[in-house]
Amino acid sequence: MSVTELGLPGLRSAPGADPTRPADPRLIDRFGRVATDLRVSLTDRCNLRCTYCMPAEGLDWTPTDQLLSNDEIVRLVGIAVHSLGIEEVRFTGGEPLLRRGLDSILSQVSALDPRPEISLTTNGIGLARRAEALASVGVDRLNVSLDTLRPERFATITRRDRLTDVLDGMAAAQRAGLGPIKVNTVLLRGVNDDEATELLRFCLDAGYQLRFIEQMPLDAQHGWDRAEMVTAGEILAQLRADFDLVPDTEERGGAPAERWLVSDGHGGHRGSVGVIASVTRPFCAACDRTRLTGDGQLRSCLFARTETDLRALLRGGASDTEIADVWRGAMWAKAAGHGIDDPGFLQPDRPMSAIGG
Ligand code: 5AD
Ligand code: SF4
Repeated sequence: MSVTELGLPGLRSAPGADPTRPADPRLIDRFGRVATDLRVSLTDRCNLRCTYCMPAEGLDWTPTDQLLSNDEIVRLVGIAVHSLGIEEVRFTGGEPLLRRGLDSILSQVSALDPRPEISLTTNGIGLARRAEALASVGVDRLNVSLDTLRPERFATITRRDRLTDVLDGMAAAQRAGLGPIKVNTVLLRGVNDDEATELLRFCLDAGYQLRFIEQMPLDAQHGWDRAEMVTAGEILAQLRADFDLVPDTEERGGAPAERWLVSDGHGGHRGSVGVIASVTRPFCAACDRTRLTGDGQLRSCLFARTETDLRALLRGGASDTEIADVWRGAMWAKAAGHGIDDPGFLQPDRPMSAIGG
């Protein structure tokens, strides 16, 4: 019996399905993009409950047997690096520091040849005690999520009183050589939308790179409202009232952040700030990402309406070559953009915490 007859969804997008796909080993698509950046969600669990992400009671976490094992993750990342041209791997969640065996996954990925660049997006809880170990198993860079510097607001947004843990974690990571730390901030109307300047001052002083991210329709509660969203334009207007911003002309490539240098008033600059205008100025045309969920589903986009089941292929005995070709086929079918502004836009079935940021 063939794998297709077994109903394994992974092979629906297998090679041969689209004869127009060129014989290119890389993850190319119909719009001329090449994916070189792999995002892997290691768990959908989290120890915070950000209101724009999940409800207070949390979500129905994916059962462990449905999650990829550590070995399965390392195998898939290996295929991506060896056969598909992936150069950069970012581990996300949920909260990736909650993943059992994280250090082992990281050290095995950093032993791959060629060695990909390795980064982690974390909420910073528990980072203070983990930072040294993360650096020693090969993490190159960290992104830490931080939406406010005020403890009571932090508790309102994340539903946990843990601001100090996050700040301590960031400082420890910087000391461990994981810098420059990138800070991800989501501004929410009427909650922390007056804090852009304060956050930028703090990050400039500490040597962190701040990036504001427009809120996207990826919350489990489906409560996102475009009219409520704090836009990149508003954020920049706020910052320009207090800082002199000069566009950073360095090649943006597939990087989503538009960057500005913050002038020091003496002809130099004291750091930079980024704005990720995912909604108002989509960067889909330059996207270089491919994504893997914790339960082994391949997604060509955060907002993709379909997934490709790599876990079923792995567990069904597929070879590396077969998996690589299914991966290529899925990416070839990637849509041009997220279409958030299209009248027929539908939010993905899974929330950000299950897909990975
Ligand atoms: N829109 C934009 N950013 C989000 N994040 C989580 N949910 C959303 C959303 N709906 C951010 C987190 C974290 C990163 C993984 O993505 O704050 O920094
Ligand atoms: Fe956790 Fe990140 Fe979601 Fe906040 S946004 S609840 S830190 S997964």
